[in-house]
Amino acid sequence: MTEAAKPAFKKRVFSGIQPSGGLTLGNYLGAIKRFVEMQNEGFETIYCMVDLHAITVWQNPEALRRQTRELAAGYLAAGLDPAKSILFNQSQVSAHAELGWVFNCVARMGWMNRMTQWKDKTSGKDAEKVSLGLFAYPSLMAADILLYHATHVPVGEDQKQHVELTRDIAAKFNHDYGVEFFPITEPVIEGAATRVMSLRDGTKKMSKSDPSDMSRINLTDDADTIAKKIRKAKTDPEPLPEDISGLDDRPEARNLVNIYAALSGMTKEAVLAEYAGQGFGAFKPKLADLAVASLAPISAEMGRLMQDPAEIDRILGEGAERADAIARPIMERTYEIVGMIRSRG
Ligand code: TYM
Repeated sequence: MTEAAKPAFKKRVFSGIQPSGGLTLGNYLGAIKRFVEMQNEGFETIYCMVDLHAITVWQNPEALRRQTRELAAGYLAAGLDPAKSILFNQSQVSAHAELGWVFNCVARMGWMNRMTQWKDKTSGKDAEKVSLGLFAYPSLMAADILLYHATHVPVGEDQKQHVELTRDIAAKFNHDYGVEFFPITEPVIEGAATRVMSLRDGTKKMSKSDPSDMSRINLTDDADTIAKKIRKAKTDPEPLPEDISGLDDRPEARNLVNIYAALSGMTKEAVLAEYAGQGFGAFKPKLADLAVASLAPISAEMGRLMQDPAEIDRILGEGAERADAIARPIMERTYEIVGMIRSRG
């Protein structure tokens, strides 16, 4: 097909977060903060709580419901506006699972075997015991994105490979069926902190599943806890350097500078220009103040929203209806392309 004959896809953003535990500063800086900005940048924005992904590992049912509402509260508290963005939980739009199945038949075993998150999670001795869903996880993620013909997907660094797989699945589907039906989606990995590291080990990603709570800042932490975690964050005895290259081989120092830059909206260069020559004894209290000022209002608002779970459920239900209205015709067209009879009234 010539460039001119290619269908134009509407600028549409889709992204999701697993309701599999609390939100961390990594989720906030790598994803949610960007979600909120994109809501105001001329995109149609769709944000999901991916509960079907969450159950690829065991979730206590009551805890899953609470975590899904808490994640919704986090989205809202951070500034997502249900009047501007569609907010919903994945399982309420059944086409996610349906398209996920079709993509299980498009994606190749070899592609899935190369996913580094899969390899990391199954490198231990219990590899035989993980769920089949965990293996198929990235194919469901491709379905999430392509079900809306999303053109842009804001994510942290760790999801880049999954978005690349989404592009491969779209291209193979289009090629196999001789259509230009699914867009080739762009990952949006932007900002000073697309990979926030653990506060205890600057070579490991900050994660909600790290056994040490001191390794992460949770969006539900109160001001004292945030300040204490930053005060105790692992660092080195050197003062901050004058330029970025001075942070090479200093992963903990680099991480704290990145966090400062992302929270303040300053460039890393500007942060170093302000703090070069100062030690962590001076820098950490400034970072703690900044983190508390940025996160405490979000945490307080989350607490307030969690007082009214019925209102959260109402917002998710309404979002699911709006999401379904976009997804259903795309799913039906997919079935037709694949050769399924659709004759129900
Ligand atoms: P999840 O739930 O692990 O993380 C949600 C988002 O937060 C980002 N993130 C980070 N960014 C920077 N530093 C960190 N330490 C950090 N930790 C997490 C992630 O990159 C992600 O953007 N597979 C996805 C969920 C998903 C999805 C989708 C995303 C399902 N379907 C469709 C986009 C589009 C996941 O497990 O993210």
